[in-house]
Amino acid sequence: MRVFVDSADQKQISLWLEQGIVDGVTTNPSIMFKDGVTDLEEGARSLAALLGEKPLSVEVTSNDQEIMLEQARTFATWARNVVVKIPIVNEFGESCLGVIHRLSKEGIGVNATALLSFNQAILAAKAGATYISIFAGRVADEGNDPATVIRNVRTWLDDWDVPARIIVGSIRTVMDIQNAALAGAHIITIPPQFLPKMVDHRYTRETVRQFMEDAERTMEQIRKAKSAVVGTSSR
Ligand code: E4P
Repeated sequence: MRVFVDSADQKQISLWLEQGIVDGVTTNPSIMFKDGVTDLEEGARSLAALLGEKPLSVEVTSNDQEIMLEQARTFATWARNVVVKIPIVNEFGESCLGVIHRLSKEGIGVNATALLSFNQAILAAKAGATYISIFAGRVADEGNDPATVIRNVRTWLDDWDVPARIIVGSIRTVMDIQNAALAGAHIITIPPQFLPKMVDHRYTRETVRQFMEDAERTMEQIRKAKSAVVGTSSR
């Protein structure tokens, strides 16, 4: 399973890249806004450079499908690792599967986004999306079980040998991460504020503290034994 960071915050991304746990980054217009990116091209180019070969998802910002296509083709020229996020429908409920299909045919990596159901996910995969983003938190907002959706989509992809990879996003709690991983997510995109909580455990700290104390005691005994030997030999 791969881990993406759901953020446009370069400091946070660099921090976790150095820890060796980042396989890619996802953004959306809300994340760009929250993290202070005012120039989409400049922001995307510098994030893409930071990531090297690892994928960076950048989302289109129009309901118009011709503009989506134009934006996607432009985004794809910014860096080789840019993947374009296309919502499965626009805000009027018009299918964007044709956009996903055309871009995929042109060799542009597509992350089909804002997926909330099994049916949406399999259609996006059929249309040729490289990634299909299931929004766990928003699935739960609607009273449905994200783990069931993820598990069913994963089973379907495996049964029919469809290459699309599931990204689980819209993570709201640390437990969502565990649930998504066990349900079969290929990738989970994690907001950076959850990563320190995943790493730390107060009893691990206590365990390490005990080891440090005992290491200090052992060193003290060794020091005492050495000085006793020196004392004997100098007599
Ligand atoms: C990731 O690809 C999504 O854009 C993101 O996780 C959505 O999260 P939200 O439901 O908290 O807006």
